[in-house]
Amino acid sequence: MTATRRTVLKGVLAAGVAMPTMRAWAQPGAPTARLIPSTGEAIPSVGLGTWITFNVGDDVELREECAAVMQAFFQAGGRMIDSSPMYGSSQEVIGYGLRKFGRPTGLFAADKVWISSGPRGPSQIEHSRSLWGVPHFDLLQVHNLLSWEEHLRTLHAMKAAGQLRYVGITTSEGRRHEQFEVIMRRQPLDFVQVTYNIVDREVENRILPLAADRGMGVIINRPFQQGALLRRLSGRRLPAWAGDIGASSWAQFILKFIISHPAVMVAIPATSQVAHVRENMASMATPLPDAAMRQRMAVYVRDL
Ligand SMILES: NC(=O)c1ccc[n+]([C@@H]2O[C@H](COP(=O)([O-])OP(=O)(O)OC[C@H]3O[C@@H](n4cnc5c(N)ncnc54)[C@H](OP(=O)(O)O)[C@@H]3O)[C@@H](O)[C@H]2O)c1
Repeated sequence: MTATRRTVLKGVLAAGVAMPTMRAWAQPGAPTARLIPSTGEAIPSVGLGTWITFNVGDDVELREECAAVMQAFFQAGGRMIDSSPMYGSSQEVIGYGLRKFGRPTGLFAADKVWISSGPRGPSQIEHSRSLWGVPHFDLLQVHNLLSWEEHLRTLHAMKAAGQLRYVGITTSEGRRHEQFEVIMRRQPLDFVQVTYNIVDREVENRILPLAADRGMGVIINRPFQQGALLRRLSGRRLPAWAGDIGASSWAQFILKFIISHPAVMVAIPATSQVAHVRENMASMATPLPDAAMRQRMAVYVRDL
């Protein structure tokens, strides 16, 4: 990143205002997109996770439901789908959905490498690719930093050879943040993936500012604490002022909080329900909360 861009980002983060890379596709009520720092490619701020929800094995009915979720996701302008060889049959189920409805040109295929053996990374990646049925992945991430040095060598080589567009690393629920930061400082990464939501905010202190400083896109996993956060809030009243930011449910309230952080690029909520994917995608619509409103939202949830 150039000194000028770094200076601008630092100023923007300090002021708590929207990053210049945030773009709404139309005004108002249009989905929000962010620009990937390393290329300037626009990507909608809500993606789709697949852990557990898409691990449905051979159950025909559940596979159809997952395919319907994917169809609704793409119809709402979605691009990034995130999976991993760790997620059971999820990759295969994604492949089923892509075959059933045709692979949209906008698909941003994000997967992971997750194997302790470095030399076996490439064959795992190739197997994952065949399950998705895509010509190549857009993004490959080292899942939970497992054997990260060896796998990052593989991923950087794939990128240099034109077999991959973006390289990243992941962690979740605050695990190994110190080592995560060290890798962020030393490696030329396009993306990092971490846990962040209205109650799990540790990454605000160091990782999000570092990502902005290093020009890395940030993907947010576990936005709903795998549903536990929404279950906890479900009996509570949404404040009347949630309407001021266009949030009509707790899911939208939380997603708007996450994607309005200036350093966040994409949140990837997982769902098995068409109604929920529509609701989640609608949270991208402007208006999004500003810094003062974000503070008010966090305090409200903290005090419930
Ligand atoms: N280390 C890593 O790399 C890592 C770790 C964890 C997760 N991830 C990624 O992050 C993704 C998201 O995290 P997660 O799967 O832990 O869970 P999550 O997205 O925090 O929560 C998913 C749960 O929320 C519910 N939900 C979704 N939308 C809803 C809505 N609008 N209203 C009510 N309930 C709703 C879903 O239930 P329904 O099915 O009923 O909608 C599901 O049970 C994963 O799928 C995975 O792709 C990566």
